[in-house]
Amino acid sequence: MARSCLAAFLLCMASFLSAVAGQLRPMPAGGLPSDLVALGMASKIQTDRNSTARASSDFGRMVEAAPEAVLQPATAADIAELIRFSTSSPVPFPVSPRGQGHSVRGQSLAPGGVVVDMRALGRGDHRINVSADYVDAGGEQLWVDVLRGTLTHGLAPCAWTDYLRLTVGGTLSNAGIGGQAFRHGPQIANVHELDVVTGTGEMVTCSPHKRKDLFFAVLGGLGQFGIITRARIALEPAPKQVRWVRLAYSDVVAFTRDQELLISKQASEAGFDYVEGQVQLNRTLTEGPKSTPFFSEADINRLASLASETGSRAIYFIEAAMYYDETTAPYVDQKLETVLAQLSFVPGFVFTKDVTYLQFLDRVRVEEVVLRSAGVWDVPHPWLNLFIPRSRILDFDAGVLKGILGGDNPVGLILMYPMNTAKWNSQMTAVTPPTREDVFYTVGLLRSALSTNELERLQRENQSVLAFCDKEGIECKQYLPHYTCQDGWRRHFGPKWRKITQLKAKYDPHAIMSPGQRIFQLPSVPTTSTTAA
Ligand SMILES: Cc1cc2nc3c(=O)[nH]c(=O)nc-3n(C[C@H](O)[C@H](O)[C@H](O)COP(=O)(O)OP(=O)(O)OC[C@H]3O[C@@H](n4cnc5c(N)ncnc54)[C@H](O)[C@@H]3O)c2cc1C
Ligand SMILES: *[C@@H]1O[C@H](CO)[C@@H](O)[C@H](O)[C@H]1NC(C)=O
Ligand SMILES: *[C@@H]1O[C@H](CO)[C@@H](O)[C@H](O)[C@H]1NC(C)=O
Ligand SMILES: *[C@@H]1O[C@H](CO)[C@@H](O)[C@H](O)[C@H]1NC(C)=O
Ligand SMILES: *[C@@H]1O[C@H](CO)[C@@H](O)[C@H](O)[C@H]1NC(C)=O
Repeated sequence: MARSCLAAFLLCMASFLSAVAGQLRPMPAGGLPSDLVALGMASKIQTDRNSTARASSDFGRMVEAAPEAVLQPATAADIAELIRFSTSSPVPFPVSPRGQGHSVRGQSLAPGGVVVDMRALGRGDHRINVSADYVDAGGEQLWVDVLRGTLTHGLAPCAWTDYLRLTVGGTLSNAGIGGQAFRHGPQIANVHELDVVTGTGEMVTCSPHKRKDLFFAVLGGLGQFGIITRARIALEPAPKQVRWVRLAYSDVVAFTRDQELLISKQASEAGFDYVEGQVQLNRTLTEGPKSTPFFSEADINRLASLASETGSRAIYFIEAAMYYDETTAPYVDQKLETVLAQLSFVPGFVFTKDVTYLQFLDRVRVEEVVLRSAGVWDVPHPWLNLFIPRSRILDFDAGVLKGILGGDNPVGLILMYPMNTAKWNSQMTAVTPPTREDVFYTVGLLRSALSTNELERLQRENQSVLAFCDKEGIECKQYLPHYTCQDGWRRHFGPKWRKITQLKAKYDPHAIMSPGQRIFQLPSVPTTSTTAA
């Protein structure tokens, strides 16, 4: 059993420690991983309930499962040592890196195994090194710290997620999407090189030119092939200021047409540098956006009456941003005018703000503080993120946003914006819709459940949404995917599945890495307990 083998390991560690502490007692016979590295590691293994409890759940608050232990690594070599110990055991135990634990379906858990608390690596020195056109950042680093570190050199990465208290390794294991992706691709398309500790305990530096199978496997690889301990990320001169804009629409056709126009523009044309979008269903409009500092009370009333006047069951916002600095500041008004003149938002419904680049990128932090103080941050998050082919987005809007979710009023957010398929590298593990259209949409149903009833309702809705897409033949793909059986994964990866199983056999033959994804189940891993069926 993995469990008893791990228990033996921990026991060995403990007796080894006491042997060292006692100085005179002989080493226990057999079972020890080896030498001084192990000695260094014993003090980094925590088995007390407080430590294991902290690694037993995630942001989603729907899955709970305790590891046997938590490793606080000081170096990548500590991680390699742990993995080699597991793989050399008669029955290897699971190992899961945990960044911020911001997954929502238990993906960062390691039931019956060891969670590697990646943030511990960041206690070392020199974990963010800035060069002329790239930054080397530890896999455990928060994007907000990478931003602060690079801004002092007048530089910054080009592609961002909406929220920056996520780790480099955590978002690169998914894709890392946001309003810059239309131009720069997802975060995984902005990486030059990685250091990875594989599922065999090998420490490898990989890039598109060296060990490229591992490099592409790990990007969007859901933690299945190894642990990212360093990423070399592309930089650009950092913008200084941001003209932050919201444009309201009551018509989904105009909304999507304008979004697609905006993401077709090159950097040299008059356009935006960031393009996203949000959907507000009728009832969230009056009650929801109080936490959004963007609109005044009067604006909210105007928007509410727009909704009722037009009889629209949803209001759509394009959220966009134009970057500028001292030299381009005199032209920003004119440039904005030029862009707005090409768009068909509801006349008069333009909202703008000027903020610094850091304020803009770290904007969700403000929401987090509000939600935390209202006690609605640490609640279940049955989030569902889908990539929808461009050709079916209006069907999705009609059937899901105005259909299944029509009467909804949960706390949370619905995101909807297009990206350019050409910016995604199909060699990477990350998956996009199979339709090969130039554009696909991401729709994020990012709602929170404030009660058990609401959680059940949102889960049912999530199921209905997936069933609707299935029935209507909408070839969507889940982002931050979750399936309960391997068949779901097989369909998710489609033609990539075969390659993924081959890479898995090569880089994690014992299937010990990130078992919380539930792609390759260890037969001996106890199944996670789920509050919802
Ligand atoms: C408020 C909020 C806003 C978000 N906004 C966005 C957004 O705009 N765009 C977007 O793309 N995503 C967004 N996300 C999702 C985010 O990308 C995921 O939560 C992701 O899991 C990163 O979180 P994390 O760093 O805490 O990783 P974890 O949740 O700890 O880990 C995620 C998975 O990756 C594995 N993993 C962790 N670290 C490593 C590593 N170093 N090497 C290999 N595998 C690793 C884990 O085992 C786990 O399977 C958001 C999440 C939240 C909570
Ligand atoms: C564990 O947590 C409890 C409750 O928060 C606390 O009282 C106790 O001191 C903690 N124990 C350790 C070893 O940290
Ligand atoms: C940063 O540079 C130092 C000194 O060369 C090196 O020891 C360290 O590993 C580097 N850190 C990263 C994350 O690349
Ligand atoms: C929108 O909400 C208002 C107030 O709750 C309600 O009176 C109106 O009927 C709703 N409109 C639609 C189209 O759902
Ligand atoms: C949606 O909910 C269903 C039913 O609870 C569940 O099986 C599925 O995994 C969920 N999917 C996501 C992405 O949350």
